[in-house]
Amino acid sequence: MTSPLRRPLIAGNWKMNLTLAQSAELARAVAAGAAAASGEVAVCVPFTAIPVVAEVLRGSPVRLGGQDCYWEAQGAYTGEISAGMLKDAGCRMAILGHSERRKLFGETDEHVNRKLAAVLKAGLTPIVCVGETLDERETQKTWRVLETQAAGALKGFAPADLAPVVLAYEPVWAIGTGKTATPAQAQEAHLFLRAQLKKLYGEALAAGTRILYGGSVTADNVDVLMAQPDVDGALVGGASLKKDAFLRIMGFQAA
Ligand code: 13P
Repeated sequence: MTSPLRRPLIAGNWKMNLTLAQSAELARAVAAGAAAASGEVAVCVPFTAIPVVAEVLRGSPVRLGGQDCYWEAQGAYTGEISAGMLKDAGCRMAILGHSERRKLFGETDEHVNRKLAAVLKAGLTPIVCVGETLDERETQKTWRVLETQAAGALKGFAPADLAPVVLAYEPVWAIGTGKTATPAQAQEAHLFLRAQLKKLYGEALAAGTRILYGGSVTADNVDVLMAQPDVDGALVGGASLKKDAFLRIMGFQAA
C-alpha cells in the first residue's frame, strides 16, 4: 500500500479510441462510479473528445487529461496542441513521453523535458512515462534506461518545480500485450525510480512523488499491484475503455 504522503491515482489512457458519443457515455459511467473509487481518478482522452468529456465531468471529482501536448505556447505549429490549450479546454493533466509517442513519433527525452516545462508552466499535472523495451530488459539495460529517461525528462528543474509531477513506469513489453509485470518487477522498478528521484532532487520529492504502474493492468491484477509499497496508482490503457473493468480498477483493494 502506498505511503499516506501519496494519494493513489488511477488514470485511464483512452489512446486513439472512441467516438464522441462513446466518449460521453464512458465518461458518464466513470463519473457515476467516482464516489466508490479508492483514490483519485483521471481519464486522458483524445484531443477532439476533451470538450465533450469536460462537460460530462463538470462537478465530478474525476480529472480530465490530454495524452500529449507541444512545448510552445502558440504559433505556426500545424497539428499541435499547447499545454495552455489543454487547460483552456478543461484539462488538468497531460501524459508526456508515452512509449508509443517515443517509438512511433520519434519523441526523445529532450522533447519530454521541454513539454514538461510547458505543462508545469500551464499549471497542469504531468504524467511522465518511462519504461524499457523487452530487448533492453533481456540485455540488462533496464536500470540504465530508466535512469536516463527519468533524468532526461526532469533535467533543469528545482525540486519545488517538480512537486506536481507524476511518474508512470510502463515497461514497453507489458503494454497492450496482456503480459503484466509481476508485482515484484513493478515494485523493484518503482523503488529504483524513487531512488533516482532522491539522488537527483532529495528525499522530500522522492517520498511525495506518485509513481504509477502501466502495462496490461486489469480488474484481476490491480489489487496485487496496488499492494506494493511503491506502486501509487495505475495508468490503464485497454481496460480503461471497458466500463466495468475500469470501475473495478478504480475501486481497487490493495491486497
Ligand atoms: P494497456 O493497459 O492497454 O497495456 O496500455 C497501457 C498504457 O500504455 C497506458 O498508458
